[in-house]
Amino acid sequence: MAVNVAVVGLGFVGSSVAAALVERGVDVVGVDTDLERIAELHDRRCRISEPELPELLFAGLDSGRLRVTGDYDAVGSAEVVIVAVGTPVREDGHLDDSQLRGAMAELAPRLAPDTLLICKSTVPPGGTRELVAPALERAGLTCGEDVALAFCPERLAEGRALRELREFPVVVSGYTDKCATRAAEFWQATLGVPVIPCSTLEAAELVKMADNWWIDHNIALANELAKVCGAYDVDVLDVIKAANSIPKGNGNVNILLPSVGVGGSCLVKDPWMIWQAARQRGIDLATVPVARQVNDTMPHYTVDLIEAGLRRLGKDPAGAKVAVLGLAFKNDTGDLRATPTKPVVQRLLAAGSEVSVYDPLAVPAEVTATFGQAPAATLEEAVAGADCLAVLAHHQQFHAIDFTRLKDLVAPSCLVIDGRAYYSREKIEELRRAGYTYQGIGR
Ligand SMILES: NC(=O)c1ccc[n+]([C@@H]2O[C@H](COP(=O)([O-])OP(=O)(O)OC[C@H]3O[C@@H](n4cnc5c(N)ncnc54)[C@H](O)[C@@H]3O)[C@@H](O)[C@H]2O)c1
Repeated sequence: MAVNVAVVGLGFVGSSVAAALVERGVDVVGVDTDLERIAELHDRRCRISEPELPELLFAGLDSGRLRVTGDYDAVGSAEVVIVAVGTPVREDGHLDDSQLRGAMAELAPRLAPDTLLICKSTVPPGGTRELVAPALERAGLTCGEDVALAFCPERLAEGRALRELREFPVVVSGYTDKCATRAAEFWQATLGVPVIPCSTLEAAELVKMADNWWIDHNIALANELAKVCGAYDVDVLDVIKAANSIPKGNGNVNILLPSVGVGGSCLVKDPWMIWQAARQRGIDLATVPVARQVNDTMPHYTVDLIEAGLRRLGKDPAGAKVAVLGLAFKNDTGDLRATPTKPVVQRLLAAGSEVSVYDPLAVPAEVTATFGQAPAATLEEAVAGADCLAVLAHHQQFHAIDFTRLKDLVAPSCLVIDGRAYYSREKIEELRRAGYTYQGIGR
């Protein structure tokens, strides 16, 4: 498609959107203030481990369809600018808008006339109107006339980003109806995905809040259900499968999966964003803190399982070795942001356990910075002498682990903790036959 697009912020979302657009033949320039990230891409290195992402970015760079730079002047020749900088929250749940303010201050004076500006960064209701629009106005631009301002929340999940960008409907809203129409036409012409129009910017902002509020809440329910199932010696996965079989609303009951905990860059902060936004209008959202708290207990629940399992095997957790396999916040990503595996490791170390950490997807320097210790170079090194193998992120690379072969390396009577692998009944039997003791979350 003959359109020049600038993507501002080449983190997880910006890189994925840029890659998806380049794949569809769009010319993209990516702008990021992190010059190390830009240099890495120039050297054909990508610190984000997301299926297909490095290949698509490198192919785009090689063909010249994708350019990456730290120079904001590049946005001046773009017809469409997509903003995907980070929007964390502060301790009190308020938006930390520093990246967004910084990006808008650089962008606004450089925009060509009639640019379509699409914000993808997650903001609380009112964020686009109160933060982005004024930055444009300050640069002398009239929203809806000199610049078409749209908000289209990003809803993809790490590990499946490219697949979802090719398929997911895009929620579209605009400062005016005309802005929204232009954004809708852009997504249809480029990614070719359906669009879901929202009547106002605030409605689209709330769609994103609602999605992540629901997911966090649903996982909290699954986690508490797992705790009860564990206490009654029932497999929580059997219960969820059966419970999910009745129709409700326009789908089925859909209880998600319990795990070692919730992490990443969205679910731990977006619920707080809506909680704080509601408070500002005098509404107390009681469910948000409860779900957050439940999900935050899961790393500790997991450590309790590890320690109880070790004691049942006659081992003192102090002095026992635990190999944590999979450090990322979920399966098939190397993202360590707010990973629930960190409190697991911290508590084990505090209890005097020896801990080895291993994740083939995570950047080793980030592992060292996050966990205070270097990762094992190989699976074999990680598990050597281990009294417990805690599989806390079950990447594709771990599907082929031959536990029978590892038996010669681990300590006698080794515990396997399933934090997110959801091993099948057959696999659990196989583990038992090989001499391991299995323990899952609610299983
Ligand atoms: N990660 C996800 O799975 C996901 C999913 C949906 C939505 N989101 C939302 O998308 C947004 C981006 O998330 P992310 O995970 O990609 O964040 P990220 O932290 O991975 O990336 C942000 C990027 O923006 C760059 N940046 C910061 N300030 C800048 C500036 N002034 N100008 C140019 N670049 C700047 C940073 O260097 C970084 O590369 C957030 O609002 C997030 O909530 C994230």
